[in-house]
Amino acid sequence: MSEDLLQAARAAMERAYAPYSKFKVGAALRGANGKIYAGCNVENAAYPQGQCAETGAVAAMVLDGERRIAEALVMGEGAETIVPCGGCRQRLREFADDGLTVHLCDGRGIRRSTTLGALLPLAFGPDHLK
Ligand code: THU
Repeated sequence: MSEDLLQAARAAMERAYAPYSKFKVGAALRGANGKIYAGCNVENAAYPQGQCAETGAVAAMVLDGERRIAEALVMGEGAETIVPCGGCRQRLREFADDGLTVHLCDGRGIRRSTTLGALLPLAFGPDHLK
């Protein structure tokens, strides 16, 4: 069922621009509308200006007019199972609740599936500003 997300993340990962870390990452989000939005990490010679894969995927989703993430997957190359960085957990939280399923992958495929609530407990989110 998540095979389409996996394929989108892998394709994005292959296009990542990561000449400094040499660690390519791809992310794929399923919007509530059923469409898939992907992103890759884009590094920069001024290191802090680099962007995570999740950032690009969220931007693609918002640009398309979607505001809810129904399922998320992140893939990093190599043998280690990737987990989203802290900042990207918060980025996902903006458009999803604690129950969001987040699939974590190594370079071969899904290794573990968890929830955003487990990755980012007691999250600050849009509801706090209502
Ligand atoms: N990276 C992501 O793209 N997403 C994450 O959640 C973790 C880290 C990227 C940022 C940087 O280009 C490389 O991985 C090494 O940190």
